[in-house]
Amino acid sequence: METIFSGIQPSGIPTIGNYIGAMQQFVALQDDYNCYYCIVDEHAITVPQDRLKLRQQTLELAALYLAVGLDPEKATIFIQSEVSAHAEAAWIVQCNTTIGELERMTQFKDKSQNNGRTGVSAALLTYPPLMVADIILYNANLVPVGEDQKQHLELTRDFVERFNNRYGTADQPILVKPEVKIPKHGARIMSLQEPTKKMSKSDTNAKGYISMLDEPAAIRKKIKSAVTDSSGKIEYDVENKPGISNLLTIFSAMTGESIATLADRYKDAGYGEFKTDLAEAVVAVLEPIQTRQKELLSSDELHEILDTGAEKANKVAKKTLQKMRNGVGLGRKGRMTL
Ligand code: AQP
Repeated sequence: METIFSGIQPSGIPTIGNYIGAMQQFVALQDDYNCYYCIVDEHAITVPQDRLKLRQQTLELAALYLAVGLDPEKATIFIQSEVSAHAEAAWIVQCNTTIGELERMTQFKDKSQNNGRTGVSAALLTYPPLMVADIILYNANLVPVGEDQKQHLELTRDFVERFNNRYGTADQPILVKPEVKIPKHGARIMSLQEPTKKMSKSDTNAKGYISMLDEPAAIRKKIKSAVTDSSGKIEYDVENKPGISNLLTIFSAMTGESIATLADRYKDAGYGEFKTDLAEAVVAVLEPIQTRQKELLSSDELHEILDTGAEKANKVAKKTLQKMRNGVGLGRKGRMTL
C-alpha cells in the first residue's frame, strides 16, 4: 500500500478552501492508502500566535479532521509538535537547501511583503524545509494538497533527489520521492470579496472566507455579499467572471454535481436565487460536521486518538530520521538509537 502525508496549520479555523482543497481529498484517499494526517502546529508559529488560542485551534482542527469523516482506524491522525523528529529532520533539510531556493517560494515573497522583510521571522523563510521534513519522514509517495502548495512539493522532490545523490547510492536511495496530488476542481478556492485572491483562514476580512465553523446565518450572509459582476449571467469563465466561477466551483464541491450541470441549471436564474441555493448547499454540508466536531471536543476520545496517532507517527518518523542521521554522519554509528 502506498503512503500519503498531508497537514493543515491550526493558524485559525479552517475555511471551505481548506475543506475542498485538502480535507475532502484526505477522506477520499483513506481507504486506499496508508495515510498520515497531521495538525502542523509548528508551521503555525512562523507568525505570532496567542498560545491559548493556538492550543484550542489545534484541538479544534483535530476534531474537524474526525468530523469530516477521517477514521483513526484507517488514518494516523497526530499533532506535529508531538513528534520531535520533524524539527530534527528539518535541520538536516535546511543544511542541504540553498537560500536561493527558499527566497523563490511565492508564499515567502507574499507574506514577507505584507509584513515588511525585517519584521518577519526567519522561519517564514525556512519553514519549507520543515514541510519537506514532514513529508519525507513518513516515506510518503503522495501528498494531497491545494494548488498553493505545488511549489513546496517541487522543493521536496528536488531535495530528495539531492539528498539521495549526496548520501545514498543509486541502488539504495535513503528517502522516497513524493508525487503531488491536486484536485481537478477546487484546488484554489478564492476569496468571496476578492475573487482573484486565494481564500485564506488568516484573511483580515472575515467576509472573504467561510469558516468551517461559521453559523448558518453567517454563511448565508457571506454568500449573499460575495462579489460577482454586472453581467447577471451564471457562466463558468475564470478569466472574465472570477466571482461566479468561484461560487460554481464551491457549489460543485459541496454537492458533487459537475460545474457544467450547475451552470446549465442556473443559466436562466438570477444571482440572488443561485446564491440562496448555494448557501443552503454549504450549510447542508457544514452543519452535521459542526455538530460532530462539538461532540468530539467534549469527549476523551479525541485525546485518545491523538495519543495513539503520536505513538504510531513517532515510530515511523524516528526510523527515517535515524537513516538521515546515518546518511550525513551525525552521532556515533550504532551507539545511539533514537
Ligand atoms: N483557498 C484554498 N483553496 C484550495 N485549497 C486550499 N488550501 C488552503 N487554502 C486553500 C489547502 O489547505 C491545506 C492546508 O493549508 P494550510 O492551512 O496548511 O496553509 P495555507 O495553504 O497557507 O492555508 P491558509 O488557509 O491560507 O492558511 P493561512 O491563512 O494560515 O496561511 C493545503 O493543502 C492547502 O493547499
